[in-house]
Order: sequence, then C-alpha cells, then structure tokens
Amino acid sequence: MEDISYEIPPSTSHETCQIIQETPQETIAEEVQEQEISSIGSQNVSKSTPSNSGRYVVPIHETLSSLERIPFDPSKHIEFSPPSKTWTMQELDYTEGQGISVVGVSEPFPLFSKEAVMQMRAEILSEEVWDKYQFSSNLSHCQLRGYVPECAPFTYDVWKSPEILDIVSKIAGIDLVPVMDWEIAHINISIQSEGEQAKALEVAQRDADEGVAACPLEDDHPILDWHTDSYPFVCVTMLSDCTNMIGGETALRKGNGGIVKVRGPQMGSAVILQGRYIEHQAMRAFGTSERITSVTSFRPRAPNIKDDTVLTTVRPISDLKELYHQYTEYRFEVLQDRLQDMSRKLRDRKRAHRSYDTEATKAFIREQIEFLEAMDREIIIDKNVQRGYIDDGHLVSDEIKQSSKRKGTYDIV
Ligand SMILES: [Fe+2]
Repeated sequence: MEDISYEIPPSTSHETCQIIQETPQETIAEEVQEQEISSIGSQNVSKSTPSNSGRYVVPIHETLSSLERIPFDPSKHIEFSPPSKTWTMQELDYTEGQGISVVGVSEPFPLFSKEAVMQMRAEILSEEVWDKYQFSSNLSHCQLRGYVPECAPFTYDVWKSPEILDIVSKIAGIDLVPVMDWEIAHINISIQSEGEQAKALEVAQRDADEGVAACPLEDDHPILDWHTDSYPFVCVTMLSDCTNMIGGETALRKGNGGIVKVRGPQMGSAVILQGRYIEHQAMRAFGTSERITSVTSFRPRAPNIKDDTVLTTVRPISDLKELYHQYTEYRFEVLQDRLQDMSRKLRDRKRAHRSYDTEATKAFIREQIEFLEAMDREIIIDKNVQRGYIDDGHLVSDEIKQSSKRKGTYDIV
C-alpha cells in the first residue's frame, strides 16, 4: 500500500464492498484497542471472560528478563520523522468546531528507536504487570492498564518528556498533555500461534473472495469494533515487528458517512488521532504472531480550552478508585486555573476603572457549572458500574449503532 490513506466513498454498503473487493489484501486489518490472545509458541495462554475474572498468562520472552534497564534519553531514544500527511477534520468532512483541533488523524510516522521499543516491551512483559493490571471487556479480551509509573519508569518518562509532548502537540495542532497517569501507555496485545495465523488467513481469504470482510461495516472480527475514544486525542505506538503483517489499518468514519482507512504503524512508529470525535475501528491483521500497541491519551494543556473527556469506554476496565481519583484531581486543577484566571481578569478590569461585565461573568459561571455537571455524570456510583461491560453510549452514528446491534457487540451475556 502507498503511504496515502485510501478512501471508500459514502455509498451503500454493497457498493463499498465492491470497491474494497478489488484489493482484498488491503481489507484485512486492525488498529487501536483490542486483541485476541490464545497462545504464543508452546506457551499456553488461558482465555479470560469479558468480566475480568480470568487472567492470561504473561507471554514472557526469555530475552527480555535479562535486558539491562536504562533511563529514557530523548537524544538517543527518539528517532522522529514527520508524518507524510495529516488529515484535517475538514478533509474528513466534519463541520467546523467539531473537536479541539483542525487535525483529525496523521499518517504513521517514526518516533522511537529500537532500543526504546525494547525497553517499553520489557516493562510491559513482566509478571507483575500482567498479574495486577490486566483488564478485559465485551470489546476487548485483554488490555494492560494503569501499570505506569509503578512498573514502568522508562515508559512514564517517555510520555512526560517535553520532547515527546512537543512532537505530539505539533502533529495534533494543539498543545497537549497526557490526560492522567492512568491513561499513559494503555496496552493492546494480540497473539496468534502459527496454526491460528494460517486459519485466520484462510478465513480472511475466503471472506474476501465472497466480498464479506471487504466491507469495514461488515467486518465481524475486528480487533476493536467501531467506537469513539473517551479522550480528545490518542497517540498509538506500535511495539511489535509488523514487517509481514497484512492489514492493520484504522478505519475512520467521515462526517458524511464515508469510510477512510489509515495504515497501521510499523514498529517504533506512531499515529495521532482525534479519537473522541471520530468513530473508528481497529481492523483485522494477519501474518504476525504478535502485535502489541501502546495507546496514550491526551487532553489540551490550556485550561480554558474545552475538555469533552468522558469515562464511558474506560470506567469498566479500570481500578475505579484510581481512575476517579486521577480524573477528579486533574479536573479540579483545571477548574482552579480557570477560576484564578477569571479572578485576575475581574481584578484587572476593576483597576482599569471598567465596569463589571455581568454577561461575561454569568457565561463563565454557567460554563463551570456544566464542567462540574459533566464530572457528576461521569463519576458513577461504584456499585452501579458493571465491570467488563462497555455500553454503546459512545457511538455517534445511527449506521454504526445498528451495525453493532446486529453483531450483538453490546449484548449483555
Ligand atoms: Fe480508539
């Protein structure tokens, strides 16, 4: 595939399938937040249920246990080249004002050296992380969340470093910071044995021949089905060797209903996506035994910019107390900054002998009330949170809601 994303024009699903059918290999895909785990090599991996009651066994690579741990060094570990293109919200047919930036998604771009990738992998592939920080849901069988910074100092320093934040912010078109520590380097892992790979390829080829899997809305086995993220921006980094991977794209739903696909990143490369506002799907990938992606979520650094963060897709797959604590802490800090800024403006206005701006002050108060009301909605009483079950409240378009209903993605079992 070329370095340019390819577009499926808005049309009936039948027409869409026909277009994709002409390039069947490019239709086998995947992306951001989910995985199938069954076994790696000769090590068996138990299947967990979507309730987080089961635990996979960590697929430890022997070479990692002896890897010397080193601190993050931006001059050595960042190997950045700008993306060939970023797609604006306008190019994706979203109306002005949707989102917090004009940028919708980037093409994949090199970001980390191989040594940096190996350090991050070593931190992830530890028994402690897999034992304490593994979650599953109806949307994803296995994810690692919240292990930073306790078990991953290198990864923590990566995503807190001014150099990385500067790169991410420039590509995103807005100054960003990680939403909170809990959302640094959320991990998706997909592992297939050789037998499973061969079987998956066989099924994919058959589906492509029949014109079934070729249509994104008809992909019944995506790595992660259609969704919007809970946070404004994400940076998805590939931590596996995907040289022989077929597929691995992210499908994006445009504002006019059309579908575009963006290539998946290679090892050490990343993609930036304004995922809170764009419905997207992590499509199937084949030809690789292991696929590990790291997803770090971002919010605007400036407190006066709107923050539409919700907890819809993360509440059921989190240590609830930790998530609520970090969410409350950062939101209160944003609110404090806003109040201090407004107080200064009021004071300066009075010192300049200008009259009190009643309308502006009331509008500010209303905005903060809505900010707090949003928090009140997101912090759901613990006993009412169904662990491991994500509902369809994050979906936007009727077409995708109906598609998910037909597939039973959100059926309670
Ligand atoms: Fe996502």
